[in-house]
Amino acid sequence: VFFFFLVGSSLAQFSINENEQQIGRSQFPQGFLFGTSTSSYQVEGAYLEDGKGLSNWDVFSHIPGNILHNDNGDVADDHYHRYLEDIEIMHSLGVNAYRFSISWERILPRGRFGNVNPKGIEFYNKIIDNLLLRGIEPFVTIYHHEMPQILEDRYGGWLSHLIQEDFLHYAAVCFKEFGDRVKYWTTLNEANHIADFSYLIGQLPPMHCSPPFGNCSVGNSDVEPLIALHNMLMSHAKAANLYHKHFQAKQGGVVGIVVHAFMYEPFRDDEEVDREAVKRALAFNVAWMLDPLVYGEYPAEMRRYLGLDLPRFSDEEKELIRGSLDFIGLNHYSTLYAKDCIFSSCSAGGDRPIRGFLSTFTERDGIPIGEPTGMKTFFVVPRGMKKIVNYLKERYNNMPIFVTENGYSPKGEENEPVEDMLQDVNRIKFHKAYLAALASAIREGADVRGYFIWSLMDNFEWTHGYSVKFGLYYIDRISNSLQRTPKLSATWFTSFLTNTALFN
Ligand code: NOJ
Repeated sequence: VFFFFLVGSSLAQFSINENEQQIGRSQFPQGFLFGTSTSSYQVEGAYLEDGKGLSNWDVFSHIPGNILHNDNGDVADDHYHRYLEDIEIMHSLGVNAYRFSISWERILPRGRFGNVNPKGIEFYNKIIDNLLLRGIEPFVTIYHHEMPQILEDRYGGWLSHLIQEDFLHYAAVCFKEFGDRVKYWTTLNEANHIADFSYLIGQLPPMHCSPPFGNCSVGNSDVEPLIALHNMLMSHAKAANLYHKHFQAKQGGVVGIVVHAFMYEPFRDDEEVDREAVKRALAFNVAWMLDPLVYGEYPAEMRRYLGLDLPRFSDEEKELIRGSLDFIGLNHYSTLYAKDCIFSSCSAGGDRPIRGFLSTFTERDGIPIGEPTGMKTFFVVPRGMKKIVNYLKERYNNMPIFVTENGYSPKGEENEPVEDMLQDVNRIKFHKAYLAALASAIREGADVRGYFIWSLMDNFEWTHGYSVKFGLYYIDRISNSLQRTPKLSATWFTSFLTNTALFN
């Protein structure tokens, strides 16, 4: 029945080629990490328990109108109380790694202006110990979009350089408390995305933007994202240096950062200016974040177009930031078309320096770049995985890469019957196709060492609330039992991991 369903399903919208049919774990290197990914605010809940402080997201999500259906993460998936069951689930999936994040305000409810919360430490100790007991490697994100609200109130979040010391203080607590067992650290999740969406587009807290992005008028969107990212990068650099100098020799782990990276293709194939726009798109979005950490400088393209708006690294800062990365964490979902705005006319802010004088599109001539998904800007474009990995490989001298997120949310699923959500054939096809593209990049020499599916279970998808679902497990929010039920993709992942999938 299983097999028949997969072959005969009318849901099977995108075709898979021969390579993808064959995809299995054996095509990845020995010791490759395969896991699932979550983040604290999106799954934990227990937002006021055991001494946890309020986060910027607790405050933001409680303001009516900010989140679809006024959802919030107060309870989320109740992972705080069900972590053992969730770890059992991962064990049964057969993964050898789990990417999760620590909640800053659970550990340091008042940032560096207060004490460490022992209950917070205890919670993550229990997670780490139980993972290790089952042979699952903890892969830990220190910052995944949430911070103690007190830091937002005092400094305007990432806009002040003072927050660098807060982050360093927080990271030090994490290394000291958990570093004896955690060997994979990433400092910040998607710093580039946070800088844009919090200070340019205005969709995430503290919701700064100025026209034409959004309809808010707070902030100065021409420079704020640049300042915010600068502070995030220096925060990373300080934490990574601390680790490299004082912890690495003894604890033997590595420190990376996670970049949110679309791939880009020219809007007009035969226009040289659009091919140049693709290069600028990668520089202004991806290299913006990674170049300083590897080379100690923002990309030349950005320096050229942004001039004095682009913050500078002092000699001392350069010293700290250059070479502060042991590996790249890559969150990759989709590909966009890039169109030049220097020599062509553009709309929607594409002609502004901070956007790199380019506009991005998800379709051309009315045809989308790939199958649509539940996220407005995410389309299914497997070839993009290979291209973005190759871009990183070439630009950063084949530095080790972990794909820290890749995942699929079906379009318009919100009102579908549960049985249909559980038969998530398109999610399986998505992962097979992206994994095949990844395996091909690896065969051609890319040093990729891990792949994490976003996400273990359906969870709080930020401003989309619970309407958008990325999970291998379905969470019952209808009866409110929050019961976990495996989708077909969970079964597929297990068979992929054991190379026994009937349909491999
Ligand atoms: C990126 C983020 O890291 C994660 O929090 C989010 O849920 C997924 N991508 C899906 O949008």
